[in-house]
Amino acid sequence: MDKIKIIGGKKLNGKIYISGAKNAALPLICASLLTDETVTLTNMPMLSDITAMNALLAELGTQIDSFDDFVDEHPTKTYSYRTPKFKSLVAPYDFVRKMRASYYVLGPLLAREGHIELSLPGGCAIGARPMDIHLSALEQMGAKIEIKNGYVHADVDGRLKGAHIIFRIASVGATCNILMAATLAEGTTTIENAAKEPEIGDLIDLLNAMGAKISGKDTSILTIEGVDKLHGARHKVIADRIEAGSYAVAAAITRGNIELINAQAATLQTPLNILRSMGVTVEEKENSLIIDAQDRELEGKDIMTDFYPGFPTDLQAQFLALMLTAKGASMVTETIFENRFMHIPELLRMGANINVHGHASAIVRGVDKLYGAPVMATDLRASFALILAGLIAEGETIVNRVYHLDRGYEHLEQKLKGVGADIERIKEPD
Ligand code: EPZ
Repeated sequence: MDKIKIIGGKKLNGKIYISGAKNAALPLICASLLTDETVTLTNMPMLSDITAMNALLAELGTQIDSFDDFVDEHPTKTYSYRTPKFKSLVAPYDFVRKMRASYYVLGPLLAREGHIELSLPGGCAIGARPMDIHLSALEQMGAKIEIKNGYVHADVDGRLKGAHIIFRIASVGATCNILMAATLAEGTTTIENAAKEPEIGDLIDLLNAMGAKISGKDTSILTIEGVDKLHGARHKVIADRIEAGSYAVAAAITRGNIELINAQAATLQTPLNILRSMGVTVEEKENSLIIDAQDRELEGKDIMTDFYPGFPTDLQAQFLALMLTAKGASMVTETIFENRFMHIPELLRMGANINVHGHASAIVRGVDKLYGAPVMATDLRASFALILAGLIAEGETIVNRVYHLDRGYEHLEQKLKGVGADIERIKEPD
């Protein structure tokens, strides 16, 4: 398993290109299952989660072509997907346990084929993450759902029916799955308390380009008028706001200055306002963001994660790392997942001053210095928090299990090296 070695102390300066969004690309790939025509996705990030999703679709019978491409001179991938017919309607445990987003095949297969056997994803490091909201909504649309031997067996007699659905939680995954299922349902579906994350807006744009009739984008009430058939389309994936937010913190924590090319300020207003309130300068340009914290004494601020457009849970670990050397104290509260503080024990080993209350609140008191150490990555965003701490720690930090990072950060060490970080990947035999 590869490791990443960082020698801390460098101020980061320069430009970083922000890649296509992982959490948009994953449902977009599955939307291609709703038609027998070709769906082409551009600006796709080169990430292990994308490779994993492509492998699952190939298992189901999708023909996938991939092309090296360039967007704004940045090397990227274009993939085209075509599923004229299915060779399997089973999403096996081996795929789903490695990547829970595999469950995005649920809505499309039920809508198009009326049957699926999907392994339940099981819990993951950050929480139990059940699928009850997905499943009860599909039952409301006429699906028969049975859980047997760890698999969801779902069937529909004829077509799914439009329904009036109210989510008990504004779940991103459930909103994507029900949106896709409703496009081919008979009649109209309304989703109340839908999630409003920009990645959902991107999915709506693709589905409407494929001939779906969805209204209410960026609001919590979505209306989908079912159609008989969807056709192919070509779509550019939106920029990854979580990657952009993560590198914005890299600029702030090292007191550097980085221009984030392709970053969309409108999708990051809450985190950017926290940075501004800490004393960081944030300049919003047409197609980039400039984060400047040179020679700044940053002041710690409180953070509470929330549904979009509130503070994103996927930036909680990174911003907690930023508070470690800010002046004063910061209360960090995680409201979305029940176990998303696993970066904290590792940060404590680097000399951080953090006190955790229960499993939802941590008080961070700024310290003058962190010390490099061997640390263990546990989940995607916690791993980036360890990288951030290593960038400012005195001496050498070794981050183990970087496969977590490869799931969501394309060319991580190249991007950080390109702005002056002393970072390298140590290849270890598996
Ligand atoms: C998506 O996960 C993202 N993953 C997560 O990003 C992100 O943290 C999360 O949304 C919240 O923004 C992808 O987009 C692939 P939810 P998802 O359904 O859809 C509970 C990353 O680092 N819930 O909005 O699984 C759930 O347990 C990943 O890129 C139910 O109880 O999140 C959680 O507490 C991590 N029942 C809350 O809702 C359900 O049926 C929000 O989960 C569904 C969810």
